[in-house]
Amino acid sequence: MKNLILILDFGSQFTHLITKSIHFLKIKCDVVPYNISLQEIKKKSPACIIFSGSPKSVLDKKAPICDKKVLDLGIPILGICYGMQLITYLLGGKVIHGSKKEYGYVETEIIKDTELLSGLNSKDVIWMSHSDIVEQIPKSFESFAHTSSTPFIAMQNVDAKIYAVQFHPEVTHTEKGLKVFENFLFKICKIKPKWIPESFIEKSIKSIKDRVGNKKVLLGLSGGVDSSVTAVLLHKAIGAQLIPIFVDTGLMRKNEVTEIIEAFEDYLKIKLYVIYAAEGFFQKLKGAIDPEKKRKIIGNLFIEIFEREARKFDDVEFLAQGTLYPDVIESSVNAHSSVTIKSHHNVGGLPEKMNLTIIEPLHELLKYEVRKIGKELRIPSKILNRHPFPGPGLAVRIIGEVTPEKVKLLQEIDTIFIDELIKNNYYNKIWQAFAVLLPIQSVGVMGDNRTYENVCALRAVNSLDGMTADWSRIPFKILRKVSNRIINEVSGINRVVYDISSKPPSTIEWE
Ligand code: XMP
Repeated sequence: MKNLILILDFGSQFTHLITKSIHFLKIKCDVVPYNISLQEIKKKSPACIIFSGSPKSVLDKKAPICDKKVLDLGIPILGICYGMQLITYLLGGKVIHGSKKEYGYVETEIIKDTELLSGLNSKDVIWMSHSDIVEQIPKSFESFAHTSSTPFIAMQNVDAKIYAVQFHPEVTHTEKGLKVFENFLFKICKIKPKWIPESFIEKSIKSIKDRVGNKKVLLGLSGGVDSSVTAVLLHKAIGAQLIPIFVDTGLMRKNEVTEIIEAFEDYLKIKLYVIYAAEGFFQKLKGAIDPEKKRKIIGNLFIEIFEREARKFDDVEFLAQGTLYPDVIESSVNAHSSVTIKSHHNVGGLPEKMNLTIIEPLHELLKYEVRKIGKELRIPSKILNRHPFPGPGLAVRIIGEVTPEKVKLLQEIDTIFIDELIKNNYYNKIWQAFAVLLPIQSVGVMGDNRTYENVCALRAVNSLDGMTADWSRIPFKILRKVSNRIINEVSGINRVVYDISSKPPSTIEWE
């Protein structure tokens, strides 16, 4: 029985999540470029093929199109989003630019029982991210589901073994997404789950040792979950050859620098090299307003500091970073892959001619997997359960120019928000919570006086991987307390607003 699944990658941000879902079902899969030759496909002899999504439109001149003959191989195919549009386009159906984009949660309307959507019901929540729609399905296909605004969201030609869905079963916000994969792989393709992934920790320790040899590795530590897990993993693999450097950019949360140093030295027994560089960061950020420019400035300065520090040690050849999978795809360093959404400083800001080789042991993982590995590595939950914090720090939470005064103001606001969440037992119920300082002022009244002061926004989201997210329904009682405290205790703020946007179409951070 064949057991390999081939994923044809058309450049979607979510391709890796398809891999994750399939691996979760204990089946091996390979991601290959969309233009893989027929011969290569035959050589791999897959049990089935999945067409990923794509940020492109099949109607574009430069659309990624695979060899049409893939559809004639008799190998079962599942098209996802762009994959469905491509199948439609190649087989004579009609794809058009939709008049409205459809992002985020939608309810399904299932009109017929099928093997593919068995176990799913009408009104189940699915996640969409598309602007083109299938207006007419190919002749020999039948459609069996729609939404209020998209006429065809699932279609099949059972004889040809070709299936497709417009929504994304691979993202966790599609409630029964995994069921769609189970149906396709187990019921339709009759694959037996028997692949056992190698232990991540053992595999990475071995590969780090092999790669590093007797050289030294610098680690850019932020104190967050990702770089902490990277640090412990590297420390386990190479011990004293690891040089963990923590840069105080001046853009951290209140008291965070001291807390991180203590946590590392007390809990993990790993000594940090701390570089106090706040002044340099503020200097370079002067006048910078554009978010991408701010990210690039911070990223470049980080690397400059690392390179300078590296020169103080002999035999340093590597720079390790706690980059996760979403950072890689959203920074989109892969030229023919997804579009750049944000330059995450640990990827997008790298100068081209860097003298250190990058090591990113977590680059294929999602946050919840990193936390699981952290637990196995016995990293204290105080560190593991910290909310994610972006590399560029508070700089991307201060809209407009960053100054030390604004950072201080935001630190005060943020502390109150997080404090109240912890006190009310709500901190661990959300993926990430933070405040954003807006570059506008509003009129207020305090006592008998008119005020004209800053506005801040509170953002809290639920997510499993940071790639899709929904705003947290924090109880009003907590929000009221937070807002009261901020306005009363932080001088310079007279208005607090709560962000109720999901990702997509918004992102989690504001910049
Ligand atoms: P966005 O704003 O892109 O954020 O929806 C997704 C997740 O990534 C975090 N984030 C970053 N993490 N370096 C990081 O290490 C960065 O430059 C960066 N920018 C955003 C963000 O906080 C959220 O958890």
